[in-house]
Amino acid sequence: MKIQAITGMKDLLPEETPLWEKVEGVLRETVESYGYSEIRMPILEKTDLFVRSIGEVTDVVEKEMYSFEDVGGDKLSLRPEGTAGCVRACNEHGIIHNQERRLWYMGPMFRHEKPQKGRYREFHQFGIEVFGLKGPDIDAEILMLTNRIWQKFGISDHVKLELNSLGSSEERKQYRSKLVSFLEEHKDVLDEDSKRRMYTNPLRVLDSKNEAVQELLKDAPKLSDFFGEETLAHFNGLRKLLDEAGIHYEINDRLVRGLDYYNYTVFEWVTDLLGAQSTICGGGRYDGLVEQLGGQPSPAVGCAIGLERFMLVAEAVGQKESRGPVDVYFCSMGENARSRSFQIAEQLRTGIKGLRLMMNCGDGAFKKQFKKADKSGARYALVLGDDELEKGMIAVKDLRNDGSQQEVAIGDLPGFLSSALSLDQD
Ligand code: HAM
Repeated sequence: MKIQAITGMKDLLPEETPLWEKVEGVLRETVESYGYSEIRMPILEKTDLFVRSIGEVTDVVEKEMYSFEDVGGDKLSLRPEGTAGCVRACNEHGIIHNQERRLWYMGPMFRHEKPQKGRYREFHQFGIEVFGLKGPDIDAEILMLTNRIWQKFGISDHVKLELNSLGSSEERKQYRSKLVSFLEEHKDVLDEDSKRRMYTNPLRVLDSKNEAVQELLKDAPKLSDFFGEETLAHFNGLRKLLDEAGIHYEINDRLVRGLDYYNYTVFEWVTDLLGAQSTICGGGRYDGLVEQLGGQPSPAVGCAIGLERFMLVAEAVGQKESRGPVDVYFCSMGENARSRSFQIAEQLRTGIKGLRLMMNCGDGAFKKQFKKADKSGARYALVLGDDELEKGMIAVKDLRNDGSQQEVAIGDLPGFLSSALSLDQD
């Protein structure tokens, strides 16, 4: 019986990787143009890190983590997101203590969710995290940066920005008690999940997908009624910067995000092209997390793009990428010619920048080798038999135009091929 991949975990086949490579390259270039540096964290962390940062009463921690005990008895989890590990790493190495840092990372994340289009159990995030800056200007920079990414891939018309403020923890505390009283009064309308969340994590009730609950919430008290001066100044400051940058947004006061560490700004970029899994990027401010995880207090803000969702949107607007064929296919026959052909091939790869040369491996008459050369899509076949070798020559066959063949001195080959293929010599 064939063993199959784990449900919700996808292979990326060679036909798919060129678009991924392109997207990854553009994302890297974009964040580097804003002065961000890469950080790489382990995929596996102590379970406690996620429980303490994402929050015990969240879908991610309650039911979606891949957790296990290793042979030494340590409780570990595959990372469901990157922020917690990034903060842990920064604290551990003291790299955000009294310093500003703009960081980015890219890699696989794991959540045991029900797979559907745009939702997988292994997925990839491109994340950015900024430490040491507390004003709304850096929140705006992150939104400008993500907006630039949508522009580069021509998807701006299909994404919109939803924005909210969650206020300070003190404001949320006051709001929470008012919200709980309201929910208690209308307990009969609440579904089981909302009833449970009402006491453990009442703000998450705002995010309920249940229609009756949504209807009820129209009359619920609003968090924004509890905002003090500082929160309003931050939020209005951000809105002004976005207006000036020409970035459109909608205020969504139900936007609370699924992770517990946020305060002040939260946002999501949503698309109309993906059905239910419409958020392609989510993030916000998390000023308390660094201290909560044992570091010196530091303001922080960040976001993460879900790459599978981004890729689906890019494909939907017609983004395509394919890997071109090799330039040269090298055929040889006879023992001496074969071993010399490997040396020549290595010299050509060293001597011509960007040359893609494929060797014929395995036995076979020239006829069979030419068939493989043709199938490879190469522009030229190099043909070396013991006869040619004796003369110090090699035959170069043009596979794409007239099929003509000419003999070139082995020493002249780098010059000949580089000019025929318009590649530079090293
Ligand atoms: P998140 O909203 O949980 O935030 O995830 C960010 C993005 O990852 C989502 O908007 C979505 O595009 C993608 N994503 C999440 N779950 C899945 C899944 N099961 N399948 C496919 N894509 C998925 C965070 O993870 C925060 N760490 C973001 C952040 C960084 N906040 C501050 N800094």
